Amino acid sequence: MKEVVQMELALAVETSCDDTSVAIVGKDGVVHSLVSATKDLDHEPYGGIVPEIASRNHSKHLLPLIDKSLSQAQMQWADIDGLAVTNRPGLMGSLIVGLVTVKSLSQALGKPFIGVNHLEGHLLAAFLKDKNTADGFTPPQFPFVALAISGGHTTIYLVEDFFRYKVLGSTKDDAAGEAFDKFAKMAGLGFPGGVRVDQMAQKGDPKAHDFPRSMILEPHLDMSFSGLKSSAQRLLSPMTAEQISAQLSDLCASYQEAIVDVLLHKLLKACQQSKIKNVVITGGVSANSRLRAKASAMAQQHQLTLSIPPLAYCTDNAAMIGYAGILRMNNGEHSDLSVGPAPRSYQNDFL
Ligand code: KG4
Ligand code: ZN
Repeated sequence: MKEVVQMELALAVETSCDDTSVAIVGKDGVVHSLVSATKDLDHEPYGGIVPEIASRNHSKHLLPLIDKSLSQAQMQWADIDGLAVTNRPGLMGSLIVGLVTVKSLSQALGKPFIGVNHLEGHLLAAFLKDKNTADGFTPPQFPFVALAISGGHTTIYLVEDFFRYKVLGSTKDDAAGEAFDKFAKMAGLGFPGGVRVDQMAQKGDPKAHDFPRSMILEPHLDMSFSGLKSSAQRLLSPMTAEQISAQLSDLCASYQEAIVDVLLHKLLKACQQSKIKNVVITGGVSANSRLRAKASAMAQQHQLTLSIPPLAYCTDNAAMIGYAGILRMNNGEHSDLSVGPAPRSYQNDFL
């Protein structure tokens, strides 16, 4: 078998949605730099992400961020062994900006590159560590159950090892982040919604309104959030803006509680069915304060070892892409110039 020359450092680019992010990551998971441009304000007037605006922003910010990531890490191109870039799944226009940039750099610099699945990045985010806290760091142990929750995805995986990911269950309609964002829009909280609902909910009563928890009692691990959204719509549409505003904390707390209950019920069920005690929660929605508190309590009650990456590695970021990419390149994989952007995962990305 041909021996693969091991890379030490990769520079990674993430542009699958609206955040532009660049990172330099070691094969040990140490993040040497992570720089991102988040342009929520550009999308706010439209109440959601506008793909055209997202890709224009990527083309404006990506090259300056690449320079910044090198200077922040106090490195030069000569220090970088290879390049990683998200090429799937995501918004086509956004993916193209990152992919074409990395292909060009790969050609110009004579360095190999790899197209990475964004979701693999999220699944491995719990292995990332900062340079100055790397010593006391404990990575998750295989096998683990991972709940990946973001604006576009809500899936429970069995992570058997690096590169061995099995889908155990998934949302059948809206993603959890989407459910937060749509509710925020209905309640007049604007975009991005998740964090605003979270903040409002902190002063509210989670039992004030009884929102549905679809599929929660069913033995499978799939989820559904569209019934919850419709139920909120039915409750809010006859109300005036003043009435909504007067009850906003209670509405947010109750709605949030329904999402958190479904996610954690299904996660616990996945652990019980697979008899696995190691758990990772990742993706932008794992920033939710109620979810974090209830997940910790659940872990304690059921003797689970829970790991939730720091916020910077939970939301979309290039460090997770760099780690997944360097692992794969050190496994002898890389992409050639014919690789394209793909709106969905490849069939063989998951077992
Ligand atoms: O992983 P991410 O940064 O991007 C995607 O891949 O989608 O996740 C973004 C999602 C958005 O839907 C946002 O509203 C949600 O994560 N989110 C939150 C919170 N912070 C971000 N949802 C609930 N509570 C939060 N604190
Ligand atoms: Zn994501």
